[in-house]
Amino acid sequence: CGDRIALTPPMGWNSWNCFADQVSADKVKKAAEAMIKSGLVDHGWTYINIDDFWQNNRDSKDQSIRGKLRDDEGNIVPNSRFGDMKGLANYVHGLGLKAGLYSSPGPWTCGGCVGSYGYEKQDAKMYAEWGFDYLKYDWCSYGGVIDGMPGNDPYKVSSLSYKGGNQLPTAVKPFRVMGDALKQQPRDIVFSLCQYGMSDVWKWGDSVGGSLWRTTNDITDTWTSVKNIVLMQDKAATDAKPGNWNDPDMLVVGTVGWGNPHPSKLRPDEQYLHFSLWCLFSAPLLIGCDMEKLDDFTLNLLTNDEVIAIDQDPLGKQATCVKTIGELRIYVKELEDGSRAVGFCNLGIEKADISYRDFNITGLKGRLRVRDLWRQKDIASIDSRKDSLQLHVPAHGVVLYKFTTGK
Ligand code: DGJ
Repeated sequence: CGDRIALTPPMGWNSWNCFADQVSADKVKKAAEAMIKSGLVDHGWTYINIDDFWQNNRDSKDQSIRGKLRDDEGNIVPNSRFGDMKGLANYVHGLGLKAGLYSSPGPWTCGGCVGSYGYEKQDAKMYAEWGFDYLKYDWCSYGGVIDGMPGNDPYKVSSLSYKGGNQLPTAVKPFRVMGDALKQQPRDIVFSLCQYGMSDVWKWGDSVGGSLWRTTNDITDTWTSVKNIVLMQDKAATDAKPGNWNDPDMLVVGTVGWGNPHPSKLRPDEQYLHFSLWCLFSAPLLIGCDMEKLDDFTLNLLTNDEVIAIDQDPLGKQATCVKTIGELRIYVKELEDGSRAVGFCNLGIEKADISYRDFNITGLKGRLRVRDLWRQKDIASIDSRKDSLQLHVPAHGVVLYKFTTGK
């Protein structure tokens, strides 16, 4: 793999889905502390990623984020809720974690804070000097740059953003500029491309230094959003590999949403299914909820090492959907030790009780040991030519097994 980084999908937390424009250094520190106190750190959870709104904003009514955008040398100035970015990265590192931040290739981020357009090299150098380990780079107002829009309105996203298709050179360029700038820094910085899957980013993200890239639009805190995103992942599945991951967006686990009127939760079965699928997809695992409000269910969900191991498997192959039975989708993921993770994923509203015997889908033959990964228990040894398995998959739920050759 040479000097590639992120050889398994990054795992951590991102501030956007719980704090949005209310994020602060204090909240980020508390999230980092909760990562340790909850014990999640012992299960591979590592990154503490600040999303939009650590920078100053050009038009917010909130004076705490209306300071100088850049200093006289052009260096980016964090807003007053952050102040000392180097100190913050040090604090996160001191806890044994890694720190991430966020910018846009356009002049403005999606939230109207200052972006990196024209200052890419300077910003990359600053992130490295501060000690950051991860950059999420969000398309946002870059569409305005292409359109030559006066004032580069942060809230206008060019039609290109969502069309994709044949606009390849334009879509690639800004990510290459920042990718090159990051490569010149004396520290490894994971580069997360956020442009919602346009221009088939999974085909070229690697060539601009991307470690991961969003395949779809933003996830929200509803089952419908999770389901729609799941149904759009197949197109990119064969392009994932160690160091290059498809990103179906953050985990809607625990209580998410931006406060009243939106705090909400997926049902437990939906969270099992969502997390299983993200692990089958070899997806970056970024917790989206307030880390200080993790409930017991969510904590248990996020600390099942056998399920996490499916996501982190070093072979780095993304599961593909090999069969559908109504709304039951069966995903198979090849693992490094020759075994297979198999997810029976019920996207429908009726429970699925079936007798299943088509084990050819696993690509394995003969006698197979079947392990239930959520229960961490061997449940059967089957002859793949003649036995069948009784499956009970709840509505919006999952059965996640590992099939291994032998007794
Ligand atoms: C759009 C991205 O898709 C989100 O994940 C988030 O980063 C927001 N922008 C921030 O403005």
